[in-house]
Amino acid sequence: MSRPAKRITITGAAGQICYSLLFRVARGDVYGPDQPVILQLLDLPQAQAAVRGVVMELDDCAFPLLAGVMITDDPETAFRDADAAMLVGSRARSKGMERRDLLAANAEIFKVQGRALNAAARRDARVVVVGNPANTNAAILAQHAPDFPAENITSMIRLDHNRAASQLAAKAGVGVEAIERLAVWGNHSPTMFADWRFATAGGRSLPELIGDETWYRETLIPTVAKRGTAVLEARGASSAASAANAAIDHLHDWIHGTDGRWVSMGVPSDGSYGIPKGLVCGVPVTCAGGRYERIAGLTFDGFAQSMFDRTVGELAEEMAAVAAL
Ligand code: NAD
Ligand code: LMR
Repeated sequence: MSRPAKRITITGAAGQICYSLLFRVARGDVYGPDQPVILQLLDLPQAQAAVRGVVMELDDCAFPLLAGVMITDDPETAFRDADAAMLVGSRARSKGMERRDLLAANAEIFKVQGRALNAAARRDARVVVVGNPANTNAAILAQHAPDFPAENITSMIRLDHNRAASQLAAKAGVGVEAIERLAVWGNHSPTMFADWRFATAGGRSLPELIGDETWYRETLIPTVAKRGTAVLEARGASSAASAANAAIDHLHDWIHGTDGRWVSMGVPSDGSYGIPKGLVCGVPVTCAGGRYERIAGLTFDGFAQSMFDRTVGELAEEMAAVAAL
């Protein structure tokens, strides 16, 4: 192991998402098979014993790439010299709650962690916020990290992207890897907009291949939008392994590139598509050279515009609600 290890801060280490996430990161699923990693695990004081138990299991896996593990309840210690951060730790919703119901509970967490990120992480660290409401938590984090590059603070909408790709592939009777040019816009919430208009499978237009606009509007979009609730009701707990997988996809693709494929990421608005600055909004991107680039110049028809406006409007409302807190 000659390369210096990459330091990855992961919050919420005792939680159910991390019970999948940590093992895959330690195995090399983010940085690749030749890159040692050090995990810097943050959780609350009362969760430290549980984190120690998870770390025993990490030890017992004897992962060759795992060069070290640090456990702490101090945010600044957790973010020290981080190359990447996966912000999972927050309150998860229970049955009957919407993700926005977590706004007040989680805003304070991301304020404190924004300050710690600002103080301690490397300036080129890549950050993905998973804890809900993920987009707005990422925006709060950025507000409290004024010396940290805002473009490196992103939120996860990849789970919705993967959910949509999987549903589309099944409907079209193709492998999921054939699905290209899929876009998921907006908030990781029931308003998010899975947009198939540009999507292709094996180079053919997916809307033409499936040929059923009603299925798209009345089945695909609501199925993806309500998938988190469906999993929560079936499992009695919110999605965990699929969320961990999406977080790994998000960070892996950002670091290693997408080879021209579109993926969806929550990124800070640069004003494109009329998205107000200050919001962190799901958009289609490609990644290359360790950077993401927004897909530019897409046009909207009436239906798409109304869906887009609704989800961006919800993000603006969430930010206003936070400002009022
Ligand atoms: P969980 O309740 O199992 O675990 C959360 C962990 O975070 C706990 O160990 C808790 O102690 C810890 N925590 C709470 N406050 C903290 C703080 N201030 N600092 C550090 N750690 C803290 O929840 P989970 O199922 O692992 O889900 C975590 C979050 O991810 C939830 O908000 C959930 O809604 C969200 N989520 C997002 C997506 C997405 O697509 N963006 C998908 C699934 C879940
Ligand atoms: C999901 O989409 O599965 C997560 O955001 C968890 C949730 O609360 O729905």
